Amino acid sequence: MTALEDAPVPLSAAGNPIGFGRMHRKEDVRFLRGEGNYVDDVQLPGMLYGAILRSPYAHARINGIDTSAAEALPGVKAVITGAVLETLGLAWMPTLSYDTQAVLATDKVRFQGQEVAFVVAESKYIARDALELIDVDYEPLPAVADAKKALDADAPVIRDDKEGKTDNHIYDWEAGNKEETDAAFANAEVVVTEDILYPRVHPAPMETCGSVAHMDPTTGKLKLWTTTQAPHAHRTVYALVAGLPEQNIQVISPDIGGGFGNKVPIYPGYVCSIVGSIVTGKPVKWMEDRAENLMSTGFARDYHMKVSIASTREGKIQAVKVDVLADHGAFNGVAQPTKYPAGFFHIFTGSYDYPAAYCNVTAVYTNKAPGGVAYACSFRITEAVYAIERIVDCLAAELKMDSAELRLKNLLRPEQFPYTTPTGWEYDSGDYEKTMRVAMDMAGYDQLRAEQAEKRARGEYMGIGISFFTEGVGAGPRKHMDILGLGMADGCDLRVHPTGKAQVRLSVQSQGQGHETTFAQIVAHELGIPPEDIEVIHGDTDNTPFGLGTYGSRSTPVSGAAAALVARKVRDKARLIAAAALECAPDDLEWELGRWYVKGDPERGRTIQEIAMDAHGALELPEGVEGHLDAQVVYNPPNLTYPYGCYICVVDVDPGTGQVKVRRFIAVDDCGPRINPMIVEGQVHGGLADGIGMALMELIAFDDDGNNLGGSFMDYLLPTAMECPDWELGETVTPSPHHPIGAKGVGESATVGSPAAVVNAVIDAISPFGVRHADMPLTPANVWRAIQGSPVRT
Ligand code: CDP
Repeated sequence: MTALEDAPVPLSAAGNPIGFGRMHRKEDVRFLRGEGNYVDDVQLPGMLYGAILRSPYAHARINGIDTSAAEALPGVKAVITGAVLETLGLAWMPTLSYDTQAVLATDKVRFQGQEVAFVVAESKYIARDALELIDVDYEPLPAVADAKKALDADAPVIRDDKEGKTDNHIYDWEAGNKEETDAAFANAEVVVTEDILYPRVHPAPMETCGSVAHMDPTTGKLKLWTTTQAPHAHRTVYALVAGLPEQNIQVISPDIGGGFGNKVPIYPGYVCSIVGSIVTGKPVKWMEDRAENLMSTGFARDYHMKVSIASTREGKIQAVKVDVLADHGAFNGVAQPTKYPAGFFHIFTGSYDYPAAYCNVTAVYTNKAPGGVAYACSFRITEAVYAIERIVDCLAAELKMDSAELRLKNLLRPEQFPYTTPTGWEYDSGDYEKTMRVAMDMAGYDQLRAEQAEKRARGEYMGIGISFFTEGVGAGPRKHMDILGLGMADGCDLRVHPTGKAQVRLSVQSQGQGHETTFAQIVAHELGIPPEDIEVIHGDTDNTPFGLGTYGSRSTPVSGAAAALVARKVRDKARLIAAAALECAPDDLEWELGRWYVKGDPERGRTIQEIAMDAHGALELPEGVEGHLDAQVVYNPPNLTYPYGCYICVVDVDPGTGQVKVRRFIAVDDCGPRINPMIVEGQVHGGLADGIGMALMELIAFDDDGNNLGGSFMDYLLPTAMECPDWELGETVTPSPHHPIGAKGVGESATVGSPAAVVNAVIDAISPFGVRHADMPLTPANVWRAIQGSPVRT
């Protein structure tokens, strides 16, 4: 029960809470009937279909491309190569990290699955058939698939397209204080170091990426339906790259079947569909298939981390340092704030109180697909949380101390908030110990440890894993954060119609998180208009205010704040209009949900619906008050919000087969007040399943030649209900002091926090075999090898 649920929630005539509460999702009416409108549902008269020819090699020179046979195939309308794009100045495009990426390869291919040619045809079958007829003269080159070899003197240079580039180095970046941290380590009683890999995984949304481009030859207007999490940012980049006037580009992001960061970058296929439409004068649809999605679009993680922790013998942490080798693939396609090339990785200091921390990150190119997207996490926070939560468990093992006790000893205390970390972040609010105690109580922690001891005595291997995580979400303050020079503020418009029904326009875009419901609830909470009377409009650059989109759980912290503030602006205007109607001074009025009334005379009042009619009607408005009832805001967040949580996982491991069974999972999240607790729980359920997937089975693997070994769901394993236990969820509520409704983001908390809990549980289970660490994914084979003492190969 949250504090908000304890309070009586007024219900609308339709039975929905007017404000926060467990309202059923408005969007489900169409989703459950199969009536969603996804990019692949878009059908336009005369539409043509595109298909991409991809490289079979991870690294090869292109000596020539013969497209004549493909062009001769009946039904083929155009075959576009890098050479064609070069004539338009479009062979290369900027990435969201100030790198460049080939739209279609010209000189070389640099990863297996790279885009080489684009066929436009009357049907998608003809387009795919034509791919077989394109003859590419490849000269294979040695490939680098292992980041650790990318900086070797004899490593082939991948990005020789960049003038003067003689190695595969991308950037070095650091945070924290090296001298203080080194000194703390030099004087420490106990130091533990571990090499920890967060392997390459893929967001794998159910809907793959695609677009429908229609460049109207008459008006010169480009309409692009596309699977993007950031329609406005994409429109601006298209305008800058292609030189098209921005007002002539309309980016529409219709219903999206999951994003998880995979739909933040601009992919070559989007650009090719636009060029295809320009060349043919017809609309062109391009939808990738599953293998294309897994092999070529934004991957996540691929962080090789050497993590060290220093502490006293009693377990007081004194310092942490992390040395990261970041594998960015062939193009640095990461989307993250410009100032932070390694994202928000420096939140690796975690939820603990210690003075010194330092990290450095070296990023390299390899012959793998580009990406490094924030897969359901705010810019590398998952990697950071995994690093600190694994090393704390390694320290507990070294000290022979219970891992819960070690955490409780070091957690930040409530009076320390707002807390500035040794790497410079300001955590807004928290009561960490309370949250941890709730989780331990729910789990029956002491009984679990007793059960574990009994089982060990009879040769059964049960493990208990804890993860306590802090995230920083809601990017972000304009003075610190931009992507490609675009500030990360969000706009919001609210229009109340004469009859008191409303439309709210957002700059963020839902990919299944329920924004059509929760944003209506935010406005309902502020204005008292029933949420079913409020339409949420998003995902169309012609009809919504500018903003940088949805990723990194930023919708509630940034756009949610904008929605609350725009409603308050409307409420303030409504007060002036109500005062005119009631013939009193605005200061004489008091607000109750949905109505202004005269102080001391509650019968005399105007409902928000009556005020809306007054605002549009014949009522004489006071000087300076414009008619109509609408407002607009741009919200520039003063800080990130810092949700946190404590997760406890219980596993049973069969040492004979290495099979892991997740028996219980307790997740206590604190994301401040919950606008819709049911939606929050759904977000947490999904994220926990994600965490089990990454911890136990997901991996995009490559052989030494750079061949992708995980290009289908036969190889890239995702968790199903079979692998997931009944989630046991709890909550604490610590509002963010700077957010208008105190809400923190939550969409990614569970993905961020859960992998460490699962891995900690598995390692705890097999620790009697002397195992202190093994890398994800902890497949049966890897667990078995760890037990046998052989190094775990991922
Ligand atoms: O940016 P994204 O929508 O992916 O993440 P989010 O802002 O954390 O929100 C995910 C969903 O949970 C949205 O529908 C939010 O409105 C909802 N939510 C909530 O009901 N209460 C919160 N305190 C945070 C999010």
